Amino acid sequence: MDGTMPASAATRVTTSILCTLSWQYEHESKSLERLHELAKAGSWNASTDIPWVAWPRQSEFPCSRSSNPLCCFAPYEALPEDRQRELSWWQHGLEISEILHGEQAALQISAQLVQLLPDMQLKLLCSAQVHDEARHVEFFARYLRNTVGVIHPPSDALRGLIQRALQEASWERKLLYCQVLIESLALARLQELRRHCRAPALRHAVDYILRDEARHVHFGTERLRQHIADMDQPTRDDCSLSLLDATLALAGSLNIYTRIATAQGWPLPAMRRHLREYRLQHPELNRDRFRQLALNMQAVGLLTPAFKTQLESLNLLG
Ligand SMILES: [Fe+2]
Ligand SMILES: [Fe+2]
Repeated sequence: MDGTMPASAATRVTTSILCTLSWQYEHESKSLERLHELAKAGSWNASTDIPWVAWPRQSEFPCSRSSNPLCCFAPYEALPEDRQRELSWWQHGLEISEILHGEQAALQISAQLVQLLPDMQLKLLCSAQVHDEARHVEFFARYLRNTVGVIHPPSDALRGLIQRALQEASWERKLLYCQVLIESLALARLQELRRHCRAPALRHAVDYILRDEARHVHFGTERLRQHIADMDQPTRDDCSLSLLDATLALAGSLNIYTRIATAQGWPLPAMRRHLREYRLQHPELNRDRFRQLALNMQAVGLLTPAFKTQLESLNLLG
């Protein structure tokens, strides 16, 4: 199985942030003011609000069997139940680790945005987001350590995207990476997880996290919509293209089955054939995973014909 991450693992990213001080303290938007009130009232505590009851790896699967794309794949079905269970936990650990690293990305980017954003109302919303993302990181890291037993390193695609977003100079592109791309994909993935995961702690926390994420996407898209409407067409096309590049890179990294087949010594062509058939039987999977992103791209005015055509040609919109 994959190696776990050494405790000292760290990556240094050199960034330069233009810190903007705002002397205007009036709140311009009533709807953003309501969101800030919701953010303050919705704070939850991973130590006291989550039912940390044991969900033993030795006897329980992490997710419902029917939600596992490996189901009905002959080499997987040939394994005894305890090996299937062990593999399901490994697979679950890979997926949740990627979510944890995405949460850290949101934490770091929203912290940068507090300094960079031009107006005070958005700075306050982003500072509330920093607190939310810190709780998300705390929860997923604790769940991985205590229940799954391992934290895997980030995929190269996610690592690259995080570095790119952190080094991005403009606040609007940081908002696009964080609130539109990363959070749209996270919302879809968490909704999928909520339907199939079985550990009570995870089910409970995902409800809280979904509520927080929906708030972040809401204020990000609302602010970006106004800003993008004022951009000239070439700048708008350029923003859309860089989001498309990042989406395609991430779409590849979401496929963890090549890693599983390689680790298990299973034939890759057979695994790919099986997954193709699985996707044909479950067209809602890719559609749901990328529909939220397409909706949010549309909400901010960046769902260009080129972006839509690319997603459709890759069957990402179903
Ligand atoms: Fe989050
Ligand atoms: Fe978030």
